[in-house]
Amino acid sequence: MLETHAVSLIYRNGEGVTYAVNKVNVAVKHGEFLGLVGPSGSGKSSLLYLMSGLKDANEGDVTFEGNSYQAMRNGKLIDLRRTRYGFIFQQHFLINYLTVFENIMVGALEQSEAARKRARALIGELGLEARSNRLPWQLSIGQRQRVAIARALINEPAIVFADEPTASLDQTTGHQVVDLLAQYRGHGSIVFVTHDPEMLTQADRVIRMRDGEIVGEEKRNGKG
Ligand SMILES: Nc1ncnc2c1ncn2[C@@H]1O[C@H](COP(=O)(O)OP(=O)(O)O)[C@@H](O)[C@H]1O
Ligand SMILES: [Mg+2]
Repeated sequence: MLETHAVSLIYRNGEGVTYAVNKVNVAVKHGEFLGLVGPSGSGKSSLLYLMSGLKDANEGDVTFEGNSYQAMRNGKLIDLRRTRYGFIFQQHFLINYLTVFENIMVGALEQSEAARKRARALIGELGLEARSNRLPWQLSIGQRQRVAIARALINEPAIVFADEPTASLDQTTGHQVVDLLAQYRGHGSIVFVTHDPEMLTQADRVIRMRDGEIVGEEKRNGKG
């Protein structure tokens, strides 16, 4: 569904260059939960930025359903990102003067009754019923991250990209967040970046990174 083709991201600093991602080939399969793990600085976030079109590749290309990101740089990639992808980061990026419900609706492509219905359903699935009209500061960090998940899922994305969404949470809360996100598998694919392999016990497949390269791959759950 999504494939990278010898894709690189290069940072130039001073006289040197760093290959944050070095000619990586990776494919995301339909509906799978793909984990990307590796130590800090191994290029996980950089690879996620390339895969999701948040950054342009310096070498290689990415295709989604056969369509090249290179060819979509004229605005089409922004549309693809908006309509087909969902994002969750370590920071929840909720708007502090909007309620839980309103924050989720911020992600919606249209402010339709269908979207409001979906927001209410997500609030239920994520156990936020009693918090629907609260403001972000009135929530625990784990609850805020659940709101961020709902916002990412509001348009039923083909792929959810999650970059260290559990890094600010304790183990128990982190596992709860992963478990909730993992339920989306099958409806869409999940690309989950973490430095903590503990968070990937649910993954169908785990790719290990080091120094901008893929150094290992493990299949789990008999799938992937
Ligand atoms: N904005 C930047 N400018 C220069 N180098 C960067 C920048 N962002 C990341 N890097 C470098 O790219 C490499 C990969 O970083 P990153 O993708 O953030 O890794 P990870 O997410 O695995 O911690 C590291 O060597 C990092 O120092
Ligand atoms: Mg990172």
